[in-house]
Amino acid sequence: MNGNMIIKNASELVTVSGFQAKKGSEMTDLHLIPDGAVVIQEGLIKAAGKTGDVWGKLTREGTDLALFDILDARGKAVLPGFVDSHTHFVFGGYRAEEFGWRLRGDSYMEIMARGGGIVNTVKATRKASKDELMATGIRRLDSMLSFGVTTVEGKSGYGLDRETEIKQLEVMADLDQIHYVDIARTFLGAHAVPENYQGREEAFLDFMMVEVLPEVADHNLAEFCDIFCEKNVFSVAQSRRLLSRAKELGLKVKLHADEIVPLGGAELAAELGAVSADHLLQASDEGIRALGRAGVVATLLPGTAFSLKEPYARGRFMIDSNCAVALATDFNPGSCYTESIPLIFALATLYMEISIEEAITALTLNGAAALARAEKIGSIDVGKDGDIVILEFPSYQYIPYHIGVSTVEKVIKKGNVVFDKEKRGISYC
Ligand code: NIG
Ligand code: FE
Repeated sequence: MNGNMIIKNASELVTVSGFQAKKGSEMTDLHLIPDGAVVIQEGLIKAAGKTGDVWGKLTREGTDLALFDILDARGKAVLPGFVDSHTHFVFGGYRAEEFGWRLRGDSYMEIMARGGGIVNTVKATRKASKDELMATGIRRLDSMLSFGVTTVEGKSGYGLDRETEIKQLEVMADLDQIHYVDIARTFLGAHAVPENYQGREEAFLDFMMVEVLPEVADHNLAEFCDIFCEKNVFSVAQSRRLLSRAKELGLKVKLHADEIVPLGGAELAAELGAVSADHLLQASDEGIRALGRAGVVATLLPGTAFSLKEPYARGRFMIDSNCAVALATDFNPGSCYTESIPLIFALATLYMEISIEEAITALTLNGAAALARAEKIGSIDVGKDGDIVILEFPSYQYIPYHIGVSTVEKVIKKGNVVFDKEKRGISYC
């Protein structure tokens, strides 16, 4: 595990090349290199190009090949690691019964209004010990890694009190230390109104802004602040108030915006210069155009629309409106209990009129941009982290084509193989 690796003879090297979000028509260009090679040294990408050219350069420079693990990727496509830029993966308990209730006709917001939903997970997360949250967190990260995810965002928001919100963020910081998957932390203290503040949303926001947010900022517990800006949760004015304070304290901001009702969340994200506006199922035309103009990443979560049987966000219109679109799972115990990247590819390409090439950009470079990391991850470019996915097929086109099944054979994190499908010890009897 020295972070030195050479991958050669890849049938397709999908570099996605770029150091900032790709907007509109730029999302189609994957900067493909046939018969490609990548050199990773001490965890960072040192060269990428045609195998012949890269090999020639290594020889000319007298590189000691014995210092490198060499992988032959003949017949395989090689891509940047996927970036899942919107999840809620640290939580206690499950809400399997709600899935059945929704099948019988109850809506997500009805379940929430009668004390189920987010508040249900809040109870279980408050009760859970850090060790319990770590144990389930590791299992979930392992699963994400097997789908090719090398960086994930995780949100708090299942505490709605000081202690549990901080516990969730600390668990993510600890997981980041021990797990291969890198974790970007988001403070989502304003995810719902807890029982003891019902009808007193302003007082709850005051509590979060005075008692919790400064501590989160001072101790670097989160890089982003998010809010559920939604009818019957937090209004646009309330969201503006919290997020403006978060910005003053040095956090970057994100929003759960226009998910269920067209409230003006997209417009607010543009006004505040948010790094991303997420969900956007009901975003207005003007809100979408504003996101494009402001360079706010539109993060779409088709797994949630699918799971809640809602219409999908207008991905095609967003890309055509010159937005930078990212795709993510929204993995959470309620509205979308899945970490499946193949499912997201299937939904985006089959139901949102997003092309395969655009979907790849959305799950790599634009996901990185939604986490303010486009200069460090999300593409195969010299200087970036050596986070790579090797498929068991010769082309990226197999990703959505093999519907709902992972095509990932190996995952490389900072130059080391950290997942290998062939070595999972599956026995055939
Ligand atoms: O992104 N919409 C609000 N938050 C999450 C769901 C969280 C939950 O139901 O536990 C979402 O869909
Ligand atoms: Fe979410």
